[in-house]
Amino acid sequence: MGSCCSARIRAHHSPRRDGPSSRYTSFDGRETSSRRSSSSSVPLTPRNEGELLEMGSLKSFGFNDLRIATRNFRPDSVLGEGGFGCVFKGWIDENTFKAAKAGTGMVIAAKRLNQEGLQGHKEWLTEINYLGQLHHPNLVKLIGYCLEDEHRLLVYEFMPRGSLENHLFRRASYFQPLSWNLRMKVALGAAKGLAFLHSPAAKVIYRDFKSSNILLDTNYNAKLSDFGLAKDGPLDGKSHVSTRIMGTYGYAAPEYMATGHLTARSDVYSFGVVLLEMLTGRRVLDKNRPHGEQNLIDWARPYLASKRRVLRVMDARMEGQYTTSGALRAATLAVKCLAIEPKYRPMMDEVVKALEQLQDTGSVKTEEAQRHHAITSADHSSRKTASYPRPSA
Ligand SMILES: Nc1ncnc2c1ncn2[C@@H]1O[C@H](COP(=O)(O)OP(=O)(O)OP(=O)(O)O)[C@@H](O)[C@H]1O
Ligand SMILES: [Mg+2]
Repeated sequence: MGSCCSARIRAHHSPRRDGPSSRYTSFDGRETSSRRSSSSSVPLTPRNEGELLEMGSLKSFGFNDLRIATRNFRPDSVLGEGGFGCVFKGWIDENTFKAAKAGTGMVIAAKRLNQEGLQGHKEWLTEINYLGQLHHPNLVKLIGYCLEDEHRLLVYEFMPRGSLENHLFRRASYFQPLSWNLRMKVALGAAKGLAFLHSPAAKVIYRDFKSSNILLDTNYNAKLSDFGLAKDGPLDGKSHVSTRIMGTYGYAAPEYMATGHLTARSDVYSFGVVLLEMLTGRRVLDKNRPHGEQNLIDWARPYLASKRRVLRVMDARMEGQYTTSGALRAATLAVKCLAIEPKYRPMMDEVVKALEQLQDTGSVKTEEAQRHHAITSADHSSRKTASYPRPSA
């Protein structure tokens, strides 16, 4: 894996563009939010930093233990690097939580903050606040944290298949291209995670939905990670939360970029972006593509609503695995999520329902199995998957 010395992509005070998934953050003294206590399904809101760090569900790690667990933060233990810092693979004893010999005990992912300043600390604390209290099969599990001198780390369950981003865009042989069925499974898992965050039980806006924040376990169950930018949803009948604009270029909803008004529908837009990335196998912003293809949404939009044209923008690595109607239904869902007008975007519950229906249909394999059982005369036209001419700029 790579070393830990690449340039930071997180900017402070002013947005900065650095590449395909550049993160922009703006400094906002009010950004750390606490969960409200009105919901019966989550614990009472801790009020200050001390209370947050004493939440019973989280383990406080010593820096030295994490240093040993990750073999001195060795470069070959690096799982990835984001704006917050590097993520290291390590091993701990599952009972004592002390460092264990590599290959024994429980595997962890330790994210080490490499930023100075208040913003990094606030995101570190926000993550502890939310992940310490919100538990769901489609949210990554935070095991604990470390706060010692200037060291700040977060310790998560290890997700063996890494991020969706790696599977979609890395050409390394370790990351095999995901099949249509697996993409639909991952989309559903991620949608369920987001639907839970938006539900009355949590009422949280995630604000950082993107393919690198969707992690995969051995069975390709999707779990959302990175809650450093999450916010409590609006209270008292208000329509939105006013915030400084933070997030990642390409994924953030246009109205949020323009006004700073944040709603759950901003997350729905980001979901549409990721769904489109999954269907096309392309990054939302890619400066390495020809002019006219660099912005995925602008490039793909004209093709997404037509049964005849949608196949042209589908990821060629899935050819032969989905039916035309399956592709069209998934593309139509992405288009709805990407509506410019937030009120026309579906709620995440509806997205979950649509994706549930796509799990059983839409795949050539499933259809073939059904045909086999029904012994009906097959209509092959609905699953034609020959090579399609791809649009050019
Ligand atoms: N729990 C985990 N298990 C396995 N790998 C992980 C885990 N958490 C993170 N990673 C890996 O580390 C990479 C970096 O994660 P991180 O969240 O720090 O940054 P990012 O999401 O890629 O970017 P950004 O900070 O801009 O949002 C991820 O893309 C993933 O490959
Ligand atoms: Mg991340």
